[in-house]
Amino acid sequence: MKSLVIYFSRADENYFGGSMRYIDKGNTEVVAEYIQDITGADLFKAERKIPYSKDYMTCIKEAQDEQRRNELPELVKELSDIDGYDVIFIGGPIYWGTLPQPMFTQLSKLDFNGKTIMPFSTHEGSGLASVVRDIKKYAPKAEVKQGLAIAGSNVRSSKPSLQKWIDEQLS
Ligand SMILES: Cc1cc2nc3c(=O)[nH]c(=O)nc-3n(C[C@H](O)[C@H](O)[C@H](O)COP(=O)(O)O)c2cc1C
Repeated sequence: MKSLVIYFSRADENYFGGSMRYIDKGNTEVVAEYIQDITGADLFKAERKIPYSKDYMTCIKEAQDEQRRNELPELVKELSDIDGYDVIFIGGPIYWGTLPQPMFTQLSKLDFNGKTIMPFSTHEGSGLASVVRDIKKYAPKAEVKQGLAIAGSNVRSSKPSLQKWIDEQLS
């Protein structure tokens, strides 16, 4: 089975258990790379052409405005098809209760008919929030498996839970 991870992740300033820090690699990117280690999946990162601000509080506001306007921002690069893949992992940080809008830019361009989807999130308390429901809007004919939510502070030790989730859902 050939797998692909489609994800969004933002480095720069983020919130870690009560304080703000600049980081080089976002939480979801760490998870995406673990999934790659476990499954051999290819990675595709949905990158906003105009990145969100590095400053956390500004980014929060930009993402909220974009979601309220239901905008699908332009990406640096788009995947045109997923024909060669059976299993698609779809994940990102929770932004205001769901995936960041750049993920929906990408999902809206793809045909998930007959694919198996493995939804995941990283978050600061919301779990999967509306991720599974919102993915299904863009993939009505896919088999969507049970999702996995990983809290930001657990991301770097999440490989065993990722392995378990993948074994359980894809066996
Ligand atoms: C714009 C924005 C909105 C967020 N909204 C939520 C939220 O609604 N619920 C939540 O649990 N965490 C929220 N977070 C926290 C992120 O989901 C969390 O830090 C995530 O692990 C970041 O992933 P990344 O480093 O891959 O970008 C938000 C963060 C940002 C920047």
